[in-house]
Order: sequence, then structure tokens, then C-alpha cells
Amino acid sequence: MVKLTTPSLADDILRLKKERNAVILAHNYQSREIQELADYVGDSLGLAYKAKETSADVIAFCGVHFMAETAKIVNPKKIVVLPDANAGCSLEQSCPGPQLEKFLQVNAAKNYYVIAYINCSAAVKALSDCICTSGNAVRIVQAAPMDRLILFVPDQNLGAWVMEQTGRKMDLWQGSCYVHVEFTRDSINAIKQQHPDAKVVAHPECTYAVRLLADEVCSTEKMVSYCRDSSSSAFIIVTESGMLHRLEREVPDKKFIPGPTGHCACADCRYMKMNTLEKLHDCLLHLRPQVNLPEDVRLRAEKPILRMLELSR
Ligand code: 13P
Ligand code: SF4
Repeated sequence: MVKLTTPSLADDILRLKKERNAVILAHNYQSREIQELADYVGDSLGLAYKAKETSADVIAFCGVHFMAETAKIVNPKKIVVLPDANAGCSLEQSCPGPQLEKFLQVNAAKNYYVIAYINCSAAVKALSDCICTSGNAVRIVQAAPMDRLILFVPDQNLGAWVMEQTGRKMDLWQGSCYVHVEFTRDSINAIKQQHPDAKVVAHPECTYAVRLLADEVCSTEKMVSYCRDSSSSAFIIVTESGMLHRLEREVPDKKFIPGPTGHCACADCRYMKMNTLEKLHDCLLHLRPQVNLPEDVRLRAEKPILRMLELSR
């Protein structure tokens, strides 16, 4: 494997990690350098479990803010730092807590059972009955009380895909991921023409038109096992570009196609890519920026997350 990390910086990070008794958790969309240094690399669900279970004193969370916030919610005694506090998420931004609260008040007669995709703020989680990730959304929706109408927030595309999978009708918040809605049928078809034997693997945040072209629609973690277990040797990966590092590392004998220039099937999330090795170093050194939240909000947000973790075991 080619080692891209500057040795002294990587060594400094590992030294600080030891001094701080820290664990480095990284999402599959992080840069190759960060993935190589992390103790664990995974999807939102795997990261939530790891954050809850860790005995380290410090969690250095290389992902976006809502992921680090989730770590703090499920393991509040730990110091949770993230390399860049501005690493947000367009899905989180599409559903502000006060707006959801107002919506639920106005629609109180519907007595919604609220399922929130984990890509949302603690305020939104605190208003929800259960949280889900892309990896367990189908299971969580299937487990929802049959006599309640589900409001699924904030991702309309994941919500629509879950409706297709379960046959369960839900009202959908109209949010979306700015990265995944950029992929188009034409761009995927152009790549398919060049690689006719490759399987198309897409994240459920993609639009219906793109999902229709996919051989597999799944979470980032499932992408690893799907590609490993498939009899195919080449895959067009329709999600954020960081996923390619994880796949190339875990399934080195297969080919992962990000798409030719101009027809890119793998794009950067500008929020995920705000994290750098330098910022990871600094957050471990200064223990800043930290994620903290009011205890009443944390307690209300924790409940639906724990429900999800129990239902996903
Ligand atoms: P996963 O939980 O599938 O990794 O998805 C997280 C995400 O932010 C996708 O854009
Ligand atoms: Fe949010 Fe989309 Fe980035 Fe995932 S890829 S963190 S959903 S903006």
C-alpha cells in the first residue's frame, strides 16, 4: 500500500492519541490519510456503536458535526473533539429543530411517529421517536407501531427508498443531500457504457432515477461486504469519494470505478473534506473544538438513539 501520510505529522498524532488516551473514529468519507490513522473506520451506525462502547477518555471524531454530537449524546462523560467544528451536513441544515417543532404542533392531530435519519441535529433527535441510519432504516421502519403514521425526516430520498422496500406509507420531510442528488442517470449511464460488466452500487440518498440503475442500494458499510462477496470484479461506486479508499483497502483484488472526468460518479462532500491531518493533530493537542450540549436536550436525544441501537443488534 502507498503511504501518503507525512511521517512526522502522523507520528505526532499517534503520540498525542496515546498521551490523551484517545480513540480516533473516522467515517468512510474521510481522506485516505485520516482513514489510515483511525482506530475504526465505518458508517454512521458502526461509529455510533463504537462511540458508545469506547473506554478511551477522548473521542476524536473525524466525520461531520452531527456524528460527533451523536458520540457525545451516547457517551457524555467523554471529551468529544472534531477536527473542524464547521463540518456540517446539508441534510441536517434542511431540517432545523424549531421548524420541525412547529410542524409537529401544526399537525398534532396526525399524531406522527417521527423517525429521524441520524443526519440531523440533537434538537431534531430530541423531537423524534426513533433514529435510523441508512444501514438500518428498513428495519427501524418495519418496527414502528402499525397504528401510527410515520413522519420521516429529513431525507426524502432515503425515505422514498425505505417506502419502496417496506411498502409502508410515510410522510417525508423534503430534505436532501447536496452530494448525492448531483448524480444523474446520464452520468451513470455514460460510465456504464465504458464498464458494461461493472455492478452499480449506490447510496440510498441518491434520487429515484439513479437508484433504478443500481444493482445494489445500501449504506457505506454494506458496500464493503457487497463488493467483497459479489462474484463481480468491478464496481461503479455512486457515493462520496472517500468510500473508494475504504473499498480499495478492504477489497484490494477488485476494481472500483469513480467515473471518468465529466461524468463523475464519486464526488467530494465539502463538509467531510474540511477535516485534515493538521486539524486532527490540533484538536488532539488543544482538545478543541469540543462538542457539548445542554443536558436536557442530550437526554431527550439519547432515548431515540438507544431505541435504534437496541433494534439494530
Ligand atoms: P452511511 O451511514 O451510509 O455511512 O451514510 C452517512 C452519510 O452521511 C451519507 O451521506
Ligand atoms: Fe451530509 Fe451529504 Fe455530506 Fe453525507 S455526503 S455528510 S449527507 S452533505
